[in-house]
Amino acid sequence: MNKIVFATNNLHKLEEIRQIMDGFYEVLSLTDIGCYEEIVEDADTLDGNAQIKADFVTNRYHMDCFADDSGLEVEALNGAPGVYSARYAGEHCTYQDNVDKLLAALDGVQNRKAAFRTVIALNLQGQTYHFEGRCDGMIATEQRGEGGFGYDPVFQPDGYDKTFSELGVEVKNKISHRGKATQKLISFLQNYVK
Ligand code: IMP
Repeated sequence: MNKIVFATNNLHKLEEIRQIMDGFYEVLSLTDIGCYEEIVEDADTLDGNAQIKADFVTNRYHMDCFADDSGLEVEALNGAPGVYSARYAGEHCTYQDNVDKLLAALDGVQNRKAAFRTVIALNLQGQTYHFEGRCDGMIATEQRGEGGFGYDPVFQPDGYDKTFSELGVEVKNKISHRGKATQKLISFLQNYVK
């Protein structure tokens, strides 16, 4: 079977992809290939960071690889926190610190429009491909719901009156930035193999 590396150690993301690719691609994690080094993601775009991770594996291990990078872009903040979403409130901050900082930054701001974006970079047989997923919505004025992670308690996707946290993973995966980018990657790989 074809082997491909997913440059992540996030078991949740890995398991999701493995189930879908079952039978036509064996998906390996960074741990599976013995890659324990820290990959420095210092690009200033999502595309750049996804590509850095995919290239690290392809160059060092000579394997086909894909990697993802996501961020939340808030219109009234000129696209911030964007590529810096994970460390918006500082280097070792928690998800709650980030949510608090975002709500404070938007205090009294009318324009609550925001979008989550995911970019997946794929290195396959000497070629590079990028797949993008986007989910438009707005930032709630206070956090609601228990589920999910990151900015889920304050992100309300368009067409819903609930936050990602309130909607739960099943609904979220169908409409989310990551879900859409992953679907594009999977369709591409399925057609590529045939
Ligand atoms: P990553 O590239 O998937 O690790 O995402 C980077 C950061 O963006 C995360 O640490 C979160 O702060 C934020 N983020 C990405 N995707 C989501 C999501 O689906 N819900 C909430 N926050 C997210």
